[in-house]
Amino acid sequence: MIKTSEKLPPNIFVIFGGAGDLTWRKLMPALFDLSQSRSIPLHFAIIAVDRVEITEEALRKRLQEGVKTFARAGKAAAKEWHEFSQHIRYLQGDFKGKSTYKELGDLCESLEKEWGAKAQRIYYMATPPSLFGEIPSFLGAAGLAADRQRSRIVVEKPIGYDLDSALALNQTLAANFQESQIFRIDHYLGKETVQNILAFRFANPLFEPIWNRRYVDYVSITVAEEVGVEHRGGYYDGAGALRDMVQNHLLQLLCLVAMEPMVSFDADEIRNKKVDVLHAVRPIAFDAVHLSTVRGQYDKGWIDGKRVRAYREEDGVPPDSNTETFAALRLFVDNWRWQDVPFYLRTGKRLPRQASEVVIQFRAVPHQSFPAEATLDWQPARLVMSIQPEEGIVLRFQAKHPGPKMVLQPVDMRFNYRESFATPSPEAYVTLLGDIINDDATLFMRADQVEAAWRLLMPVLDAWKASPPRDFPNYPSGTWGPDATQGLLVQQGHSWPAPVELSAIRK
Ligand code: BG6
Repeated sequence: MIKTSEKLPPNIFVIFGGAGDLTWRKLMPALFDLSQSRSIPLHFAIIAVDRVEITEEALRKRLQEGVKTFARAGKAAAKEWHEFSQHIRYLQGDFKGKSTYKELGDLCESLEKEWGAKAQRIYYMATPPSLFGEIPSFLGAAGLAADRQRSRIVVEKPIGYDLDSALALNQTLAANFQESQIFRIDHYLGKETVQNILAFRFANPLFEPIWNRRYVDYVSITVAEEVGVEHRGGYYDGAGALRDMVQNHLLQLLCLVAMEPMVSFDADEIRNKKVDVLHAVRPIAFDAVHLSTVRGQYDKGWIDGKRVRAYREEDGVPPDSNTETFAALRLFVDNWRWQDVPFYLRTGKRLPRQASEVVIQFRAVPHQSFPAEATLDWQPARLVMSIQPEEGIVLRFQAKHPGPKMVLQPVDMRFNYRESFATPSPEAYVTLLGDIINDDATLFMRADQVEAAWRLLMPVLDAWKASPPRDFPNYPSGTWGPDATQGLLVQQGHSWPAPVELSAIRK
């Protein structure tokens, strides 16, 4: 049974690129999951708009395959799918043709007539980014964005290619929609463990008093992927790790870790606090980029006992590509809380395993009162927030090893989502699409955040472009990136923490 709610206003969910990969892999499975777990409005229609010639029935069948493969709710039973799929309509049309928007408007009106009520309209751009600037203008010109209260637009990343293109895109959006109508997706913000950073920090009095430069030695944020570029070589080669991951996901994580407590859970209040962090990040001078950053590209190598090819051998990637598949940065947040505490960020493809985590490394105790032989295995306290693949938190601290002598040994205290909660975490898109339907913009990026993030990274992009790498490929697949990555931390006497194993929990 799909769950519908009369409390939710009638809703028309328009997907531009409705026959495309994102819809198949993420959007439809998430909408189906929503209909199973939370609920969809009683009056609900999904209008898939695309250029391809396909019948409504054939499209529904194709989408069912995606749902079977990717929905958390698992294989949709025939009855449930049938019930859900009745909400899906197909509109074939050119994204740049006026008539498409006319037909879309007519279809929406006829649905509203049938329901006897005005509907909220969500326009989701699941298209190539080259259309992000065009679709809003067509919608605007057709009068489909005119109802400020009821219409919304959703933009996928990449939101711009650099600061100028992001500014231009934001301007086009702003010419047709108000900021409150614009939902910019960063799917990391929909991840349960990412949202838990706020809960952990601000719902517990325990850690906030020591969450600052007096107690924190450094912070590291790792988003490591085991996979390579897969089938996305064409897109990825024009982007690279800095644009694809750091500009959005890693900087968003940095904001959540470093922001000041919010006064309320109001969307703009949280987004204001986050953007304050980006404004406080010390700009990296063009001439100093090589001192604060490391870039890398994967070579062939071994992962999980399997031979994998080099980035330059991937489909859609030129054999002399200089695109980075790994990026590491050392940043500083210049404010009272964080002055001079390094924030190390790293992300890369074809690393030994998937591991996304934030590590807060605390300072050593001010005075060592234990005998030297007690502290041979001494390590400062550390808090690890693991985002994926395992979701949870590990606190490492010193304990006395059992025995007649005072010997200190680090031990781990673990919290694991899977063990603590019976309910599995929803997929990020389920959370985000649910929030769009509920008009809650808290987890979405505002124009100024996106622009501040680009502004911060422009010197890096410019400096990297000005001096192409001479050592690419510079890390074998299956390793933790180029050797120079260690150098970023060693200068300060720091080191990248090895990813934690949450599954080591003993019952
Ligand atoms: C996307 C990037 O935004 O995030 C991909 O474009 C990357 O290159 C992906 O693989 C990682 O997301 P997740 O949720 O698998 O960590």
